[in-house]
Amino acid sequence: MEELRRLVNGIKFTQLIAGEAFKMEVPLSREEMLGVIRTNEPIFLRHLQPIDRALPIHGNADDLQALSDLIRSARMRCAEGTTAIHLRRVEGTPFVYTAADTKAVLDAVIMELGGDTAMQSPDQIFSIFAGAEELYVGWGTPDEQLSDWPGGAVRFQREEGQISRAKFKLLEAERAFKLYLENFREALDIGAAPGGWTHLLLERGLRVTAIDPAELHPSLSAYPRLTKMKKNASDVQFAPNTFDLLVCDMSWSPMQMAKLVLEKTDALTDGATAIITVKLMHKKPLQTIRDVVSKLETAFVLQKAKQLFHNRDEITLYLIKK
Ligand SMILES: C[S@@+](CC[C@H](N)C(=O)[O-])C[C@H]1O[C@@H](n2cnc3c(N)ncnc32)[C@H](O)[C@@H]1O
Repeated sequence: MEELRRLVNGIKFTQLIAGEAFKMEVPLSREEMLGVIRTNEPIFLRHLQPIDRALPIHGNADDLQALSDLIRSARMRCAEGTTAIHLRRVEGTPFVYTAADTKAVLDAVIMELGGDTAMQSPDQIFSIFAGAEELYVGWGTPDEQLSDWPGGAVRFQREEGQISRAKFKLLEAERAFKLYLENFREALDIGAAPGGWTHLLLERGLRVTAIDPAELHPSLSAYPRLTKMKKNASDVQFAPNTFDLLVCDMSWSPMQMAKLVLEKTDALTDGATAIITVKLMHKKPLQTIRDVVSKLETAFVLQKAKQLFHNRDEITLYLIKK
């Protein structure tokens, strides 16, 4: 909210889900607001649902009927490309239907109108937010909504033998920053244990040097492309221009982390990519981020800073070495 307040004068917020979702009213047109968000995408905003209509909730089948009627009245939109139905609910909403039930009914309406439905990468999303009294309903492209997942909550399948949940952070960063990890050759993973990120990079075919004073998961020994260094990262040195990817997910003070990453920049090729998590342990997260980014900007160009769904008290930076 603080980031948005700084962007738009006269913005008004109403909390919908504590610490998670709020309604905002802005003295701007939809296009103007989207323009503001596109040029200054807030770090902590994961999802943005337009409210084209607010429908009263009846708590029975009339609600599905009203949603179906709304889709029929916007028939042109459904006919263009694929449409996904997203539903989010506040706890205790009188709207009685699950996301699966709602989707089944509305998908049928879209098909009946000659449109196509899609779960992934849809051309447009029909989003429904079931609140305490009303259904907020809006159309938007995944780009306008900042995500093609309801509420920006990107879910990945947990795999058997997965080393750590941290792997989801790197998978989500890859999607969010439109990277293709398999396009890199040689990665340096700082703060690698137990090895979720290292494992993902190895799976994608990279050679990986993993540094951590803690133990890596024994299953990683099966990869000949892995070099393990059981050390503090400040005690290791590398030849110049060795790595085209640096990833760092260290649980450490943000400024110390930035200092350590800067010590390693000579080991990176020009134009190398860096994906770094910044722990927000202090009271002033925006100030911490500004300080860390301006330090890192001595050697890198910031591409994007984002609190991903799988980040808890941290954000992820995507940088390119100058
Ligand atoms: C959140 S865990 C990393 C999880 C990892 N990304 C994964 O996918 O499994 C943070 C790690 O940073 C390591 N760490 C903290 N300070 C470090 C330092 N100075 N050098 C190397 N590793 C460090 C810790 O030992 C810890 O294992």
